[in-house]
Amino acid sequence: MRKLIAGNWKMNGLRADGLALARELARRAAATPLACDLLLCPPATLLAAVRDAVAGSPLQLGGQDCHTRQHGAHTGDVSAAMLRDAGCSHVILGHSERRIDHHETDALIRAKLAAARDAGLVAILCVGETAQERDAGRALDIVSRQLAGSLPDEMSAGAVAIAYEPVWAIGTGRTPKAAEIAQVHAHLRAELKGRLAAPEAVRLLYGGSVKPGNARELLAIANVDGALVGGASLVAADFWAIAQTGS
Ligand code: PGA
Repeated sequence: MRKLIAGNWKMNGLRADGLALARELARRAAATPLACDLLLCPPATLLAAVRDAVAGSPLQLGGQDCHTRQHGAHTGDVSAAMLRDAGCSHVILGHSERRIDHHETDALIRAKLAAARDAGLVAILCVGETAQERDAGRALDIVSRQLAGSLPDEMSAGAVAIAYEPVWAIGTGRTPKAAEIAQVHAHLRAELKGRLAAPEAVRLLYGGSVKPGNARELLAIANVDGALVGGASLVAADFWAIAQTGS
């Protein structure tokens, strides 16, 4: 399966830095065709500027969250229809930082996935255990529960990707062992059977401290169909190096 390398800029990037980063990646992508799909998820304030900066290149654009409704009286929120209108093809949903900072539940995330689907966006659903949960041997149970609770019933395989992001690996420089990632991804693939048609066509991403130095090994693990990259996606040379290992 063609891999997806997604850059989650989180709450980083003012106009000048974000534009410089997007332009540099677009320049590289125009010069050297990649064998993977490359997605930039800047903060909402930069979507239009990044869309214009990457226009004509193969780089795709994604949001970092959306509301459950497409419009209405929801001050400060952004809808899936608005993301689509701004040029997005994807939206990250259920990231652990939103689950923690905004107390997002599986039920809420499920409604957001349905909204993304209805707006024609591909949802990148994040799941993953905390350090305590892994130490207690509960990693598989946790991702199963998150997947069961947050994946709507009527999803096509092309409308969703799942990102396995252990909370303890995000921004820490620590990653699970290859065998641990392989185990979770095989488990997720199995859990998708019966939930949707063509479960083998759903991309399963790994996220959490993906860097140029470990990307090749991480992306070679069975059932790892791409990466969700935080910190390293803010440096053009690093994100580009990761993208090349996924080709
Ligand atoms: P990180 O973040 O690459 O900085 O660990 C990954 C993520 O939160 O998606």
